[in-house]
Amino acid sequence: MSETMIAGIDQGTTSTRCMIFDSQGRTRSLAQREHHQVFPQPGWAEQDADEIWRHVRHLVPEALAQAGIGPGQVAALGIANQRETSVVWDRTTGRTVAPAITWQDTRTSAIIDDLVARGTAGRIAEVTGLQPRTYFAGPRLRWLLDHGRGLRARAEAGELLFGTMESWLIWNLTGGVDTGVHVTDVTNASRTMLMDLSSREWDESMLDLLDVPRAVLPTIRSNAEVYGTCVAPLPGVPIAGALGDQQAALFGQTCFEPGDAKCTYGTGAFLLVNAGSERPTPGPSVLPTVGYELGDDDPVYAVEGSIAMAGSLVQWLRDSLEIIPSAPQVETLARSVDHNGGCYIVPAFSGLYAPRWDQDARGVIVGLTSFVTKAHLARAVLEATAWQTWEVVEAIGRELGLTLETLRVDGGMTSNHLLMQMLSDVLDVPVERPLVSETVCLGAAYAAGLTVGFWSDLAALRHHRHVAAVWRPQMDADVRAREAAQWNRAVDHALGWVV
Ligand code: G3P
Repeated sequence: MSETMIAGIDQGTTSTRCMIFDSQGRTRSLAQREHHQVFPQPGWAEQDADEIWRHVRHLVPEALAQAGIGPGQVAALGIANQRETSVVWDRTTGRTVAPAITWQDTRTSAIIDDLVARGTAGRIAEVTGLQPRTYFAGPRLRWLLDHGRGLRARAEAGELLFGTMESWLIWNLTGGVDTGVHVTDVTNASRTMLMDLSSREWDESMLDLLDVPRAVLPTIRSNAEVYGTCVAPLPGVPIAGALGDQQAALFGQTCFEPGDAKCTYGTGAFLLVNAGSERPTPGPSVLPTVGYELGDDDPVYAVEGSIAMAGSLVQWLRDSLEIIPSAPQVETLARSVDHNGGCYIVPAFSGLYAPRWDQDARGVIVGLTSFVTKAHLARAVLEATAWQTWEVVEAIGRELGLTLETLRVDGGMTSNHLLMQMLSDVLDVPVERPLVSETVCLGAAYAAGLTVGFWSDLAALRHHRHVAAVWRPQMDADVRAREAAQWNRAVDHALGWVV
């Protein structure tokens, strides 16, 4: 009998991947494509959801061919996606009615300011767990309905559908205009500012507050169940898992016990800690979110510290300053000096996320002297990612009394050994990278595989986890304390810059 496998799609901020995994959780193939990023105004960031769907249609057969299997050998498909990126489309034509507005886009700041001015922040936090911020998806839907010609009337008439990327892809994969299934998963829904974090259902009072018609919203489903059957490009294959990408990484890293933590270093960096089955109530620096919910099981919550810029700061060094020819070169350049030369970079390009949450912060480079070279800048870029992670870990400790024992890491930047050592040094805990570093795709595949019985239970998944590299702290406590103080001073310069 021919071997069956699981397919995973990671629809991320800059690219989409399709991967095939075997029963041991080993990677059998990976196909990837980047999509366009459009920045029509300062603070705006858009993508073309039709382009992304086109890429998925090409990537899946590519991944199958690389793995040497046909669709008949795929037991199930799991999907993970960039969260909060919002799409509205016409249910009768299947076409998007506007560009997708990405999670980094800050055009909803007036909506957020208005919600805060009306004194609704407390109620929003009570229901959704979230503070009103431009990061979340619901205000984007409101913005689109307010600004797109005729869109509100069409939405109210039931002609339009809204979703985050997993919702858009599942609808298309299950047949679009003919038989498309309009669903979202609970982790993505928990980032809309429209879902009650306790009941995990759309909350009428939030829909009223944001003036969003119920008719456009997808049905909220768990992370591991069959949503529908794929029509193309995997005919007959059940779509059996869907999670936001950061929750997928938490799952792929097998962070199944309260206190288990992972941080994924991609465009941004997202540190999630498993918080158990009770809804957590941290302070405003970090946010409570759904970690995962498997079928009818109780949900597992997580606490998240979201960092807007990590890998994208390295890209800026490459593309805008042209200091390095390729992203990996940042490590070589940074290693050519043994300290930052007194220079610190705070990458608040579109404000600061956790734990500062200041949408008026802007990027600063401080400590410049004639001594500073591009090598010191490269070092400061990597240190910025390490110190931002440290700030998040500190905030989680302060607000929830949680102390990390280890940090599991994944994502593109984890191939940077210098950065991984810096992380271990500033956090003062071991940093572990698993053998399969594509944990987002793996997590989506795990959820789908559990649903269809390809894997029996969480213990089976844990069994597949192998640690490939560990970095241990080497920094003196007094150096750490001094550098932390300097980092905090640098951040002070970035805060409240926009007047
Ligand atoms: O919340 C945004 C996050 O889901 C984006 O992740 O890895 O696509 O940048 P990534």
